[in-house]
Amino acid sequence: MADNKRRLAVFCSGTGSNFRALQHAILERGIPAEFELCLSNRSQCGAFEFAQEHGIETLHLSEKQFGSYEEFEEAMVRALMVRGIDLILLAGYMRKVPDAVVAAFPDRILNIHPALLPKFGGEGMYGIHVHAAVLAAGEAESGATVHVVNEEYDKGRIVMQRRVPVMPGDTPEALADRVLECEHALYPDALEKILEEQP
Ligand code: GAR
Repeated sequence: MADNKRRLAVFCSGTGSNFRALQHAILERGIPAEFELCLSNRSQCGAFEFAQEHGIETLHLSEKQFGSYEEFEEAMVRALMVRGIDLILLAGYMRKVPDAVVAAFPDRILNIHPALLPKFGGEGMYGIHVHAAVLAAGEAESGATVHVVNEEYDKGRIVMQRRVPVMPGDTPEALADRVLECEHALYPDALEKILEEQP
């Protein structure tokens, strides 16, 4: 049966809890989208395990597999094109998306960042480093941001944000857990919004 489901690729480097939250929301809410591919820079990760359990194709793609960065970029673009991918969702992908991929998918790549951009973004700001920086700056709140990916780290158009409080005595790990829970609700909502905006 022909359907109008958007063909998604998810890029992950680790646990993939955001990927899991997205997949559950797609199935539960009937969001018109389907994961066709889970791509990772790592050969083994929690995201791959989840993808395999759900019959979603996995692809390990790393610069180290290629003679040059250009060959790596081209292979990534080709892998996405041949599968007819409409939208790429970065979910804990700890690498910069190659410029050739950004150029091939303008406005078609989303990222979730564990802070309230434009603060606490940019190179080196990922995972626990973000939460440590938020606490070091004495912020009263943090949160999560879904944004469109462009050539500059964490600088693309903001699609949706949600806030969480910083609690007295917070450790980076405690704040990370609170923000991650918020991310799991935010990312599916942002996906729905983008799908409505991009007919
Ligand atoms: C999430 O908190 C995500 O926002 C963050 O990594 C975690 C991945 O968790 N991403 C970044 O820091 C990217 N700059 P997950 O693998 O369980 O979804």
